[in-house]
Amino acid sequence: MNFEIKPLSNERVCAEKCDALVVLLPHNFQAGEDAVSALASLALKSGDLQAKTGQLLTTYRPTDMAATRLVLVGAGDGSAKSVRSAVNAAISSLKGSNAKRVLLDLNFLSTAANAQASAAVLACADACYVFTTTKPKASVSAIERIVFTAATAPAVTAMKAGFEAGIALAKGIDLAKEWGNRPANHATPTMLANAAKELGKLPGIKVEVLGPKEVAKLGMGSFMSVAKGSREELRFIVLHYNGAAKTAAPVVLVGKGITFDTGGISIKPSADMDEMKFDMCGAASVLGTFRTLADLKPAINVVGLIPACENMPDGNAVKPGDVVTSMSGQTIENLNTDAEGRLVLCDALTYAERFKPAAVVDIATLTGACVVALGGVRSGVFSADEQLVKRLLDAGDSALDLCWRMPLDDDYAEGLKSNFADVANVAGRAGGAVTAAKFLQRFTTKYPWAHLDIAGTAWKSGKVKGSTGRPVGLLVEFLLATAALPAQQLPKAATKASAKSAANSAQTTALKVPKAPVKRVAKPRQASLIRSA
Ligand code: BES
Ligand code: MN
Ligand code: ZN
Repeated sequence: MNFEIKPLSNERVCAEKCDALVVLLPHNFQAGEDAVSALASLALKSGDLQAKTGQLLTTYRPTDMAATRLVLVGAGDGSAKSVRSAVNAAISSLKGSNAKRVLLDLNFLSTAANAQASAAVLACADACYVFTTTKPKASVSAIERIVFTAATAPAVTAMKAGFEAGIALAKGIDLAKEWGNRPANHATPTMLANAAKELGKLPGIKVEVLGPKEVAKLGMGSFMSVAKGSREELRFIVLHYNGAAKTAAPVVLVGKGITFDTGGISIKPSADMDEMKFDMCGAASVLGTFRTLADLKPAINVVGLIPACENMPDGNAVKPGDVVTSMSGQTIENLNTDAEGRLVLCDALTYAERFKPAAVVDIATLTGACVVALGGVRSGVFSADEQLVKRLLDAGDSALDLCWRMPLDDDYAEGLKSNFADVANVAGRAGGAVTAAKFLQRFTTKYPWAHLDIAGTAWKSGKVKGSTGRPVGLLVEFLLATAALPAQQLPKAATKASAKSAANSAQTTALKVPKAPVKRVAKPRQASLIRSA
C-alpha cells in the first residue's frame, strides 16, 4: 500500500477526487465553512453520530464533495489510541468495497502530531493486512493508496516524522505477522533462517546462520536437546544492524524461535495445538524489528539472536529427567519437555555475552501462565534493572504496544532446585511466568537484561486467529529511544567473562557483577519518532 501526507484545507478536501473520504471527528470537533463540516455538524447535532471512538456513519455520493464515499468516524479524545481505533474501524469498513484511493482527513484533530500520524498509518496497515501465503485466493483489500491530510503545511510538518516512522514500522509488523501466521511446514527453522538472510541484503544489516555442527561446537547442549526429536535441522540465526560506531556496545535482542511446539514427550493436548505454530513469534518480532531498523537507520548497534528449532516427540527426543549441559556450563534437568523455550533461550543468552552488550532483551511466547496473568493486553516484562524496565514500559506506552512489570524475587526460584542438576527447567504450576523468568535470569549475569513474555500478546485466537506483529512496535520504539539517549545515560557494557564463571554465578548476581564502562563514540542522532514532540 502507498501512503502520502499533504496539506489540504477542508474546502480543498471537498474538491479532491477519491473513492473514499474518511474524516476523523473528535469530541472537540470545530466546524469550518466547508461541506464536510456542515455534514458532520448535522450528524453530530442529530445524535446520529456521537464522535465516540470508532463510531461510523457512511454516505454514498455526498453532495458538494468529489468523493464517491464519505466515512465519518468518531475519534473520541483525539489521542493516538483513539486515532488508531477510529482509523482501524473506518478502513476496515471499506473492506468489501472497491475503494482504491482513500483520503484520510485528520484536519479536525486539534493535537495531531507524530504519535497520531504513526498510529493512523499502523491502523491502515493493520486493517488492510491479509495473509495470502497459504490462501492465495483470500480476498485482499482493494485499497492502493491512502493520502493523509492535515489542514496546513506546519500541521503536516508536525506529523511527518511519525508518519514516516509508521510506514517503516508497518513493514516490520507485516513481516512479523507473515512469519507468525505461516504454518510450521511453511516456516521451518531453515526457512526462518532464509528469511533472515533476505534481510541481510538490506543496507546496514548482516546475517550469519549457524547449523547443528557449529552449534555443537559452541557447546549449546541445552538448545540442541530441544531439537533432538525433530527431523528439521536447527538453526541459530545471528543478525547485526550497525548504525553507530563499531565500538558502541550493542543492544541484543533474543527471540524464541520454536517453529512448532508439540510439547515433545511431555506432549500437549490436541485441542488448539495448531496455535503452537506461533511459538516463534519472538523470533518473528526480531526479524520485523530489523526490517524497520533498515528503513529508519537509527544511530545504534543491534544484534539479533534466534535459536530456531521444532519441539517434537520422537524415539530420539529428549526425555523427562534427562540432564543436559548448557553453553554456560550449568547442567539442567529437563523435568518437562514442554518447557523448551527457556532451554533454547538460555544458550542464546550465554552466546550474547560475546557482544559485551549494553542491554539484552529476550522476547518469547514463553508461558501459558503469562496469558492467564495478563491476557492479550499487555506483555509481561521481567528485569532487575530499574532503568531498563522503565525504558521498556515507556516504549510500550509510546508505541501503544503495552507491557507490565512482573516480579523477580529470588524466592520464586526455590522450585527450580534439582537433586540431579544445577537447575531444573520447571518449578510448580504456581507463578509459572515468573519461575520461567527466574530460570532465564541465571544465564544473564554479565549484562543488563530484560525478558518479555509475549505469549498473550503475539497472537489472537478464535475467529480472528492470527499474529498481531507485537511487540515490534515496542522494540523499535525502545531502540529509537535508546539511540537518542545521551551517551552517559546508556547502560554500561559488562566486562568480558568466561562461560565457566557464568556457570558458577548461579542466582541473582546480575547486580553484583562488576562492570567496566566501554568508550562510546556514537552520537545520538535520532530521537523517538513515535512519541509526540
Ligand atoms: N509455548 C509454550 C507457552 C504457551 C502456552 C504460549 C500456551 C501460549 C499459550 C511453552 O513452550 C510452554 O509449553 N510452556 C509451558 C511451561 C510449563 C510446562 C512449565 C506452559 O506454559 O504450560
Ligand atoms: Mn512448550
Ligand atoms: Zn513453547
